This record gives sequence, C-alpha cells and structure tokens, in this order.
Amino acid sequence: MVNHIKKLYTEMFDTENDKAYFSPGRVNIIGGHTDYNGGFVLPFCIDTGIYAAIGKNEENQINIYSENFASQGIISIVLKNINYDKKDLYSDYVLGVIKELKNLELTMEYGLNICLSSNLPVGGGLSSSAALCVLLFKVFNDEFSFGLDRTTIAKLSKKVENEFIGVNCGIMDQFVVANGVVNHAIFLNTQDLSYEQVPIYLEDYALILVNSNTTRRLTESKYNTRQMETKTTLKELQAHFDLNYLCDVSLEDYPKYAEKIMDPTLRKRFLHLVTENDRVKKAKVALVKNDYLALGKLLTEAHASARDHYEVSSEVLDDLVEMALNSGSLGSKMIGGGFGGSTLNLVKTKDLNGFINRFSEAYQKKYFKQFIYHQIYAKDGVKRID
Ligand code: GLA
Repeated sequence: MVNHIKKLYTEMFDTENDKAYFSPGRVNIIGGHTDYNGGFVLPFCIDTGIYAAIGKNEENQINIYSENFASQGIISIVLKNINYDKKDLYSDYVLGVIKELKNLELTMEYGLNICLSSNLPVGGGLSSSAALCVLLFKVFNDEFSFGLDRTTIAKLSKKVENEFIGVNCGIMDQFVVANGVVNHAIFLNTQDLSYEQVPIYLEDYALILVNSNTTRRLTESKYNTRQMETKTTLKELQAHFDLNYLCDVSLEDYPKYAEKIMDPTLRKRFLHLVTENDRVKKAKVALVKNDYLALGKLLTEAHASARDHYEVSSEVLDDLVEMALNSGSLGSKMIGGGFGGSTLNLVKTKDLNGFINRFSEAYQKKYFKQFIYHQIYAKDGVKRID
C-alpha cells in the first residue's frame, strides 16, 4: 500500500511525494454510546485505514485527491480567503480542519498536495471519518510544526465533527486513532481523557469483524436523536440530583434515579448507559486477566442492550450476532454508532475454521451470498510511514 499511494501521488501530481502517512479505522470492543455521556470506552485501532502521500506545492492551495472518490478529481482549496461553505464532499473535512487551525491562529505557509487511498469500507462502522480528520491534523501539524499533541488533535477532530460536519459524536474514535498503540486497547475515561493502554494477547483467540454490508451515515442515522434523548434525560435528573453525566450513575443507584424518569423510552436508554458503563469496566478487567470467556459474555450482553434498550441495532446486525453465536463465537456484538456497519466476534483460534464454515453456511442460506469477514489485530494509531 505504501508503494501504491506513492505511485498514485506521482500519477496525479506529476512529481514525487515527500512523506507518507497511515491513519487506521477503529473497533470499539465495548462502550457503545457511553462516550458522549461521560462514560468509559475500550477501543483499538485496526490495520485497515487511510493511506496518504503528501508533498509541497507552489500554488498556496491544498490540492486533494482520493482514489475512493476518483470521480471528484483533484479538489483545490485556495488558502487565501477560504470559502468555508460545505459541499457535502469528503473534502469538507479539510475545510473543517483548516477552520479549526485558523481559530487557533495556526496558518499554513505554503500549499500541499495530498493523495489518499483507503481500504476502509465507508459506512462499515469503522470510523473512516475520524481516520480522515485525525490524519489531516497530523499531516498539517507535522508539516508546519504547529506543536499540537495527540490528545489535542483528538479534541480538535471531534470539534470538526460536532461543529462543522454536524455529527454530535463523542471522542472515542478520534482519541483512539490519535493515541492507539499496537497490541493494546485504550481504556478511556471520556470525562477527563485519562486513559490506560490495556494489552490484548490474542494467540488463543481471534477477533473477527463481519461486515453487514448495510451502510449508514451518522448524519442521516438516529445518532443525533439518541444524543438528544440522553441530554433530555440528564436535564430531568438534574432537577432532582447533583449529576454531571448519566454514566456517573452506578448500577446499584440506577433504580433510585430511574424512578424520576417518566418516559419509558428514555428510561431504557438510561438503563443501557448505566449497564454498558459497568460492562466496560468489567471488560477491561477481563482483558487484563486474559479472561476471554468473561469478555465474550460481556460482548453479547452489550449487543442485547444496544438492541433492546438503546435501539441502535438493525435486523441484519442482529442476524449476524445470532449466526455468530450459533456458529461457536464466544461473544458477538455490533460496533460503532449502529444502524448498520459491522459486528465484532470473539472466537477460539482453534475453532476458527469451523466457525467460519458454519457462519458462512448460515449466511449463505439466508442472504444468498458470501459473507465478508476480516481477522483483526490491535495496531498503532495515526503515523508517518515513509
Ligand atoms: C460513533 C461515534 C462515537 C461513539 C460511537 C458509539 O462511532 O463517532 O463517538 O459514540 O458511535 O459508541
């Protein structure tokens, strides 16, 4: 892929690139929707992502090309007097990033050519948008020595999503893409951004990602609705309790708080968050102890809660989880925002072939096609690769 992106750069810009970068997608082991409710999350970076080759230009503009959006050609953004109108193209992220840098009075002194190629399925729930946003900050930061640290890059990337793109996401995706370390998951406290790198020893176990082939965009999905619902719930509770975040409520205290919420739907959302936050903490302990049986159970419980209480699953995702469990998976759940995307499955390495065969058969029977799966490992976050 490194050679591919360099060659592509030369084809597109008629000169050689200076540097190359890789920015990965992410998988959240557990911690669904807790990140915008002050809870814990446990994500890691994977080995698919976005490759970028970059080089200077003399035109004082950002010229960006993505092989995945080849029909859009090279998009040019003139750095002087930028027009920040969104165009509903991937290049909106470039505008959003430049705008944030401008707010910090960080200016680019010359133009850059950027050539991108991604092997992340868009809408696969692997956070291609966080990969792109963090990548752009990293490239600009390195090139112009802005001195932004990794956590600041994560925070700024979240700001671009929230304020420029219009997705009210939490910080999980951006944080792990900026800070991920090979063979580790990140146990992140989304309130104060303190975190621990938790080793993942995968020899006897395999993590298998299954693509539902149903895509969704967070801007179009009910993601923002869930965000609003939890905001309303918090407000209602604040009339009775001194509470900053829904995830600050413990499992034991849940009944006391829940009885103040009249709307049954909001109560269900709240129940998911409280139980999920508890599961993240237990999952971290399970990882530390190498207790993959316990981890598997937590994954499946997390899926049931996302399906029944937070209601962010889909028929296909539920099918995939059921097929995986019937095929011998130790635990299975949807990942990411939901309403499509992928599932994560924990399988014993020695049972892997049997699992794939059984799953494949069940899937073929129902969907009349091959299922798409990918064995994943925890990899580094965004980095320069050449
Ligand atoms: C998306 C968002 C994250 C997080 C997850 C759900 O990936 O970008 O901030 O809320 O959904 O856990």
